[in-house]
Amino acid sequence: MGYKIAVVGATGNVGREILDILDERQFDADEVVALASRRSQGVDVSFGDKTLKCQALENFDFSDTDICLMSAGGSVSKEWSPKIAAQGCVVIDNSSAWRYDADVPLIVPEVNADAIEGFSKKNIIANPNCSTAQLVVALKPLHDAANIKRIVVSTYQSVSGGGKDAMDELFNQTRAVFVNDPIESDKFTKRIAFNVIPHIDTFMEDGYTKEEWKVLAETKKMLDPKIKVTCTAVRVPVFVGHAESVNIEFENEITADEARSILREAPGCLVVDKQEDGGYVTPYESAGEDATFISRIREDATVENGLNIWVVSDNLRKGAPLNAVQIAEVLVNRGLLKNRKAA
Ligand SMILES: NC(=O)c1ccc[n+]([C@@H]2O[C@H](COP(=O)([O-])OP(=O)(O)OC[C@H]3O[C@@H](n4cnc5c(N)ncnc54)[C@H](OP(=O)(O)O)[C@@H]3O)[C@@H](O)[C@H]2O)c1
Repeated sequence: MGYKIAVVGATGNVGREILDILDERQFDADEVVALASRRSQGVDVSFGDKTLKCQALENFDFSDTDICLMSAGGSVSKEWSPKIAAQGCVVIDNSSAWRYDADVPLIVPEVNADAIEGFSKKNIIANPNCSTAQLVVALKPLHDAANIKRIVVSTYQSVSGGGKDAMDELFNQTRAVFVNDPIESDKFTKRIAFNVIPHIDTFMEDGYTKEEWKVLAETKKMLDPKIKVTCTAVRVPVFVGHAESVNIEFENEITADEARSILREAPGCLVVDKQEDGGYVTPYESAGEDATFISRIREDATVENGLNIWVVSDNLRKGAPLNAVQIAEVLVNRGLLKNRKAA
């Protein structure tokens, strides 16, 4: 007998993709339920060749649901995840509400699958921020090989990271530029069409943004608290796919050739690094793909053991939905989840 899965936020960017990925990977589910806000009650969402009717989260009884894949934002998760978890259903949350809680494992299966064992303290497992997920997939094998001391990350993040309304804003502004209509900004603080904005999430007291802080805190939690991390997070007018320029300083010697062959063998990584025109991956080509692509691997001669790399991934795949489904697979494959209907 398969599991019963609930997808909360099923009408959103991440929720829709979760439904696709559950179907594509043929997750062992007998029943999949689509949930969203009351506004979406009765709305159709597709799940493989089926259509599911959305139900309202607030009316749903989780007492026989095994896993809740939650992607309805931080405040919904703060309120609902503990209530759902208290009904015995394991919550895998895509928001930042639980990531920094010491009793909640923060998991990227290629990086720290063993940390999942602690999930039963709260019955909640956190999925990292989209820019951190792809970053740690690329860094983990290099850290194992040569011990990372410090990283400097600059992100180039697509608008889909801000949800479906943010994608509409880029589309509408781009159209408005061409037809000479007034430009309206709502989701972004400045015009995003034909522009870049060095600001994602709220400003913190030290002048960094919350998005930049997340990359730092989550990399430390999953990879190694000793690594020094600094980040500049930038929104770019791209619909799907995040890119990152990463400067890495290691404790031990590592050449670009060594890094290339380590990353070629690493789980979740795909090296595309021909030093010629077009011999690298851009966000556009990463859309719809599961891999974290690594290109432009070069030695940084300005520090003792340094490398520069370019990391690209589909934020609507590894950035949340794929990673969340992979976490659910770890729970099942390690026998950590009881099937509640069969029990
Ligand atoms: N997009 C990314 O790349 C990405 C990556 C990592 C993590 N995340 C995180 O994933 C979450 C969802 O992001 P998204 O991009 O999918 O956002 P989105 O496209 O704006 O979708 C939000 C979803 O949440 C639902 N929702 C809102 N309020 C609700 C409520 N009170 N009760 C139940 N459902 C409610 C919405 O339902 P209605 O349609 O009914 O309003 C919709 O299905 C966020 O926490 C985000 O930070 C996103």
